[in-house]
Amino acid sequence: MSERPKIFVAGHRGMVGSAIVRQLQMAGDADIVVRTHQELDLTNQTAVKQFFQQEKPDQVYLAAAKVGGIHANNTYPAEFIYQNLMMEANVIHQAFEVGVKRLLFLGSSCIYPKLAPQPMSEDALLTGTLEPTNEPYAIAKIAGIKLCESYNRQYGESHGVDYRSVMPTNLYGPGDNYHPENSHVIPALIRRFHEAKIQNQPEVVIWGTGTPMREFLYVDDMAIASVYVMNLEKTIYQSHTSAMLSHLNVGSGVEVSIKQLAETIKKVIGYDGTIQFDARKPDGSPRKLMNSSKLMETGWRCKINLDEGLKVAYREFLNNTCKNR
Ligand SMILES: NC(=O)c1ccc[n+]([C@@H]2O[C@H](COP(=O)([O-])OP(=O)(O)OC[C@H]3O[C@@H](n4cnc5c(N)ncnc54)[C@H](OP(=O)(O)O)[C@@H]3O)[C@@H](O)[C@H]2O)c1
Repeated sequence: MSERPKIFVAGHRGMVGSAIVRQLQMAGDADIVVRTHQELDLTNQTAVKQFFQQEKPDQVYLAAAKVGGIHANNTYPAEFIYQNLMMEANVIHQAFEVGVKRLLFLGSSCIYPKLAPQPMSEDALLTGTLEPTNEPYAIAKIAGIKLCESYNRQYGESHGVDYRSVMPTNLYGPGDNYHPENSHVIPALIRRFHEAKIQNQPEVVIWGTGTPMREFLYVDDMAIASVYVMNLEKTIYQSHTSAMLSHLNVGSGVEVSIKQLAETIKKVIGYDGTIQFDARKPDGSPRKLMNSSKLMETGWRCKINLDEGLKVAYREFLNNTCKNR
């Protein structure tokens, strides 16, 4: 390996991939290789092979994925399973073919069973039925973990292969999707409170009772965790994982109710109206929290609290809203 490693970040225009690139650029000690979706379709085996043969990176962050909300997952299940499986298989296999020793695969908390005990630990994987709405996506993500594991098991000793996986909790921050119908709870609430503020609406109505508990992580903290896990000494990574349970959860460990979240966003945006909860609408799971104690035992901690993270997210939302006018 040259003194400055060459690092391929797949999905560098996405929320997580762009945050990983920001972290790597700040550290400044690597050459970063990126390709847009248009330049390199990661579902295309021949193109991915050519790319790896040409670039021969030292490390790979696999943050490219076809992602979407419940509606998109339900409407396009074939696209979700096919595209994610293909991207993972192509990138992981071609990385192996050109001698990549370290690779980090990004999964999601939806790999865990719908009724997994809370907080969800890594060993809840494959212990029960998945949430049906995103099962194809979750199966593809589980396959990604198992691809990494299988290459480690078969080629770890002989080729020094060390492919790792991280499962992030709900993320938010710069690069988030603020689509009015198809966004996660934080960007959706930022948009709603912002619109209510500029239109002088007296109240904002939020679905459900406001009591469900959720966990959030600012995306730059996720990027720091990704770089940290990628570079964690092999013996330390292995002492917190096992050959067939090789992934690590990444969460803030801080729970907030939807009501607390809404009140914090209202304050950050400076909205003066009231919040109404429509208890006739569904709540979703009462609690969704990751158990990230394994990662925390290695010394990692999130640095940005919800208040600070929401302020930056809102500033970024305003910049983009103004730019797009
Ligand atoms: N956001 C969250 O709250 C969250 C939480 C847990 C886990 N994660 C995980 O983190 C990873 C990244 O998520 P994200 O939020 O950053 O998603 P994102 O913003 O949608 O970014 C995904 C990136 O992948 C690219 N991509 C998709 N299909 C591709 C293809 N066939 N070839 C090349 N590039 C392709 C996309 O490019 P185009 O846009 O041009 O298609 C996009 O730049 C995913 O694995 C996701 O499961 C995210």
